[in-house]
Amino acid sequence: MKRYVIVGTGGRSEMYFKALTDTHADVGQLVGLCDLSQTRMNYYASKLTAAGKPAVPTFPADRFDEMIRTTKPDKVIVTTRDCFHDFYIIRAMQLGCDAITEKPMTTDEVKCQGILDAIAKTGRKLTVTFNYRYSPKRAKVKELLQAGTIGQIKSVDFEWLLDIRHGADYFRRWHRDKANSGGLMVHKATHHFDLVNWWIASSPQRVYATGSLGFYGDKAGQGPASHSDRCHTCKADCKFRLDLAANASLKALYLDAEPDNGYIRDQCVFGAGITIEDTMSLSVRYDSGAMMSYSLNAFMPYEGYRIAFNGTTGRIELIDVESTYISGTGEPQGETLKKGSRILVCPHRQTAYDLDVPLGVGGHGGGDTKLLDDLFRDPVADPLGRAANHIDGARSILTGIAANRSIARGGEPVDVASLVRLPTA
Ligand SMILES: NC(=O)c1ccc[n+]([C@@H]2O[C@H](COP(=O)([O-])OP(=O)(O)OC[C@H]3O[C@@H](n4cnc5c(N)ncnc54)[C@H](O)[C@@H]3O)[C@@H](O)[C@H]2O)c1
Repeated sequence: MKRYVIVGTGGRSEMYFKALTDTHADVGQLVGLCDLSQTRMNYYASKLTAAGKPAVPTFPADRFDEMIRTTKPDKVIVTTRDCFHDFYIIRAMQLGCDAITEKPMTTDEVKCQGILDAIAKTGRKLTVTFNYRYSPKRAKVKELLQAGTIGQIKSVDFEWLLDIRHGADYFRRWHRDKANSGGLMVHKATHHFDLVNWWIASSPQRVYATGSLGFYGDKAGQGPASHSDRCHTCKADCKFRLDLAANASLKALYLDAEPDNGYIRDQCVFGAGITIEDTMSLSVRYDSGAMMSYSLNAFMPYEGYRIAFNGTTGRIELIDVESTYISGTGEPQGETLKKGSRILVCPHRQTAYDLDVPLGVGGHGGGDTKLLDDLFRDPVADPLGRAANHIDGARSILTGIAANRSIARGGEPVDVASLVRLPTA
């Protein structure tokens, strides 16, 4: 049985924790937890004690090496804030372990090169957990494209919408600082750019981008006239309030843990100091010759995406309305805007047809469940090639890193090859 440790015991680590202590405990053993916050580690460790399961030791972040030496894991699961992924991936490999990291693999080109160099030097393996690839409807689109249903892909039109509930959350936490997250072009769009690389089996070559902060932050004039710098102490009548004290797990993981290291989970989305964009648009040229226009907007009334692949023998559209929550009324959109997905195939000179959209069960459209099987159980042959390695991880962030550079330079083109030396296989 393989041994695992988790570094970074916030919200996302729960999926891995639950797998290794419950659903996948027959194939993997959790042998250590590591974080800056003892309270957050205790939150998870105490779940085991409460369930009468064997205890797992906890290690403060400055005792990471000691954890590796004493617990002897095969693999380190990295679920810290994005800008620290590289540190733990590289250190794990130097200490003889493989690593599994959450997306994004890292946040900038220097850290990306550091990870690639460490892999070349140590020969260790890195898996990047792209759960979006595992959702059945996206796999269906991959199947269609791989089978040549619309010929060679010449262009892609891709629009992603984050709503004022989920989208707003990126402006409350560490993500709001580009130094922590790489901005939404890296932190969020790594999923989207990975999907495109995988769907069209190509790599980004050149990127042109623009972006702005036009809704959140203290300059756009969208917030209450007077407000505190965090929701917990704020008296304003504000539809964006996040009440940490009212949610048992948010309270235990974040509010109660504040004395540990001052992590504030409910900063004002209309406060000062936000350095990421909420509106982004870019053009990408791929090695295959295909091009993509992409946009991401983080203050939309509903959540979802639309993507169209334009091929030499037709067009495929995937439309996905993931949430129809409307802040302010809390009412769904009803018949006007139904939650659900559509895959539309439009071959040249034939009648267009809808495909049944396969449904997934569990988090992220069924992606999380299948991903966990792939991570922890014996590998099974996958004709769709969903397991992602360090090269996929790098390609997926390089579009966003190039976009950040292009935004900073007023929309100038940025060649991806100028950012890192990417291995060929
Ligand atoms: N694949 C997905 O769909 C998905 C969804 C959510 C989050 N994520 C990713 O998971 C990761 C964690 O996100 P989250 O929402 O749980 O954030 P979080 O803030 O809730 O948790 C991050 C944890 O890392 C710890 N941490 C921060 N810096 C550290 C350091 N230097 N050393 C050790 N621990 C440190 C924090 O104390 C915290 O407990 C991020 O990389 C995020 O992008 C992925």
